[in-house]
Amino acid sequence: MDVLQYDEEATRKLLAVYVTPDVAAQRDAFVAALAPQPGERVLDIGAGPGLLAGQIADAVGAGGEVCAVDVSGPLLAAARAHNAARPQLRIVEGDARRLPLPDAGFDAAVSTQVLEYVDDVDAALAEMRRVLRPGGRVLVVDTDWDSMVWMAPDPARHARVMAAWAAHAADVHLPRTLARRLERAGFALREVQVLPLLNAEHREASYSHRIVPLIADYVALAGGAAAADARAWADDMHAQAAGGAWFFSLNRYLFRAERR
Ligand SMILES: C[S@@+](CC[C@H](N)C(=O)[O-])C[C@H]1O[C@@H](n2cnc3c(N)ncnc32)[C@H](O)[C@@H]1O
Repeated sequence: MDVLQYDEEATRKLLAVYVTPDVAAQRDAFVAALAPQPGERVLDIGAGPGLLAGQIADAVGAGGEVCAVDVSGPLLAAARAHNAARPQLRIVEGDARRLPLPDAGFDAAVSTQVLEYVDDVDAALAEMRRVLRPGGRVLVVDTDWDSMVWMAPDPARHARVMAAWAAHAADVHLPRTLARRLERAGFALREVQVLPLLNAEHREASYSHRIVPLIADYVALAGGAAAADARAWADDMHAQAAGGAWFFSLNRYLFRAERR
């Protein structure tokens, strides 16, 4: 199956996931690692709904500049709506593999939960390096989907749905090779952190509750038995939550490096 695309419905579901306290806490940890300074110029590649870009724009202030790039029309529209009151934030349509931006124009480039969806990660890293000034920093976050631990009432059905979900990204194991790729692309690696998502009990406003419909819709696109499986799996998970049982954990990895 193809990499997950964001139409208006998927954009609405992604936003519901991104406003949860789980993901808000990850953005705060990310901004702390970036440590944006007033007046800095920061590029957010694959900015999606623009929540992180907005937070960075507030930190760099009126004298700074944030450029948010994305390929998806519905996500660019969501980012514009969210950031209408931030004149220092520019939203640009563009592809991570061919950024429509000049050389050496940024102090920092960030990309969270994007490179795992890009079919040519090395081209995207080369572009990040090109648009950064020498010594500029890069911060990248991606998920290793093998780190997912999720209790489910029907483990065999859960395993089939997760196997189908694995096709939603171009590389569901990208963090394993990112340090090497960054070094090869001309960056000096400074830090790798794990950013865990943990839902040890069920809450509606949580990452794991709100990702269920995104996964079910994606897997159902295959049609036939997969679609029936996806619907039954979503029903299973809701029944499990209603019964008070839940356990979910997933690791994202943050890489911080500097342009040589
Ligand atoms: C899972 S969302 C992450 C959004 C945002 N970075 C965040 O963490 O809140 C993935 C985003 O990457 C964008 N994307 C995927 N491939 C891209 C590419 N080749 N160039 C630019 N953006 C891309 C998608 O449109 C989507 O907005």
